[in-house]
Amino acid sequence: MHAIVKETGLSWPGFTEPFNAMVQGASRGLGLAITRLLVEDNSVRHVLATCRNPNDAHDLQLLLEQNQTKLTIIGLDVSNEKNIATGAELATHLTSQIRLLINCAGILHDDTLRPEKQIKEVSVDALQRYFQVNAFGPLLILKHFKSLLAPRDRVLIGNLSARVGSIGDNHLGGWYGYRASKAAQNMFTRGVAIEFRRKNPDFICVSLHPGTVATTLSEPFRHRIRSAQLQSPAAAAMRLLQVLSHCKPVDSGEFFAYDGTRIPW
Ligand SMILES: NC(=O)c1ccc[n+]([C@@H]2O[C@H](COP(=O)([O-])OP(=O)(O)OC[C@H]3O[C@@H](n4cnc5c(N)ncnc54)[C@H](OP(=O)(O)O)[C@@H]3O)[C@@H](O)[C@H]2O)c1
Repeated sequence: MHAIVKETGLSWPGFTEPFNAMVQGASRGLGLAITRLLVEDNSVRHVLATCRNPNDAHDLQLLLEQNQTKLTIIGLDVSNEKNIATGAELATHLTSQIRLLINCAGILHDDTLRPEKQIKEVSVDALQRYFQVNAFGPLLILKHFKSLLAPRDRVLIGNLSARVGSIGDNHLGGWYGYRASKAAQNMFTRGVAIEFRRKNPDFICVSLHPGTVATTLSEPFRHRIRSAQLQSPAAAAMRLLQVLSHCKPVDSGEFFAYDGTRIPW
């Protein structure tokens, strides 16, 4: 099969004509960088970008102003199933036959949430928030947007996970809620890969670790990282799309880092 190669430098083996894409969690950080790259890529026909507060997503709105025919934004809070269902219903009027979907939204910290260093800091409220966004979110997106995915041919789903969600790779402990929510997300990814491939052998769903990326999410923890290891969102977005675009059916349900190496569960 021929690959489409365009000026972004990305190639899309197995895609012979321009395709529709969706980015969930596109307001900023990695989601925004991935959306930008897809909008610039001539292999992509249309990008549906979702975020919870479109009016506050200034950089995404700017991208929309410059690409009104190629990009559509809808509001969608991934922690609210009703809202996801409404978003999916709206999306049926805006796009069809999505062949690339990237789940980006994630939380590690905010004004009221800090990753736990010790078990005494664990709280049900915080665990629920981590699981709601990081684990349940991508799964519910697939539940409600399933009918919009192409029923046959190559379909790529990338769920942004984190190496710290690897049980086999956990040698430091701590970060109970974030780690466990990403481990659960990885299990959901595996389950979806198995279920969906029964109907479409070319359906591929993988977990992706972006590395450490200079976004709000990593900001309080970056002092531990050597500067050479810190990636810009644009560079990380490019690497993630390179890994995802080259995945084969045999890779579905697996967990890959931004450099293409496999991460243990
Ligand atoms: N940055 C890193 O070093 C790193 C490392 C490993 C894994 N990751 C993973 O990569 C993904 C992207 O992270 P990032 O670095 O780009 O983080 P970020 O810059 O903090 O962006 C987080 C994104 O998640 C969205 N979000 C949070 N809660 C949401 C909700 N309830 N509904 C919809 N959207 C919601 C945010 O939207 P709002 O603008 O509305 O808040 C924002 O778009 C996450 O899954 C993260 O776990 C990142």
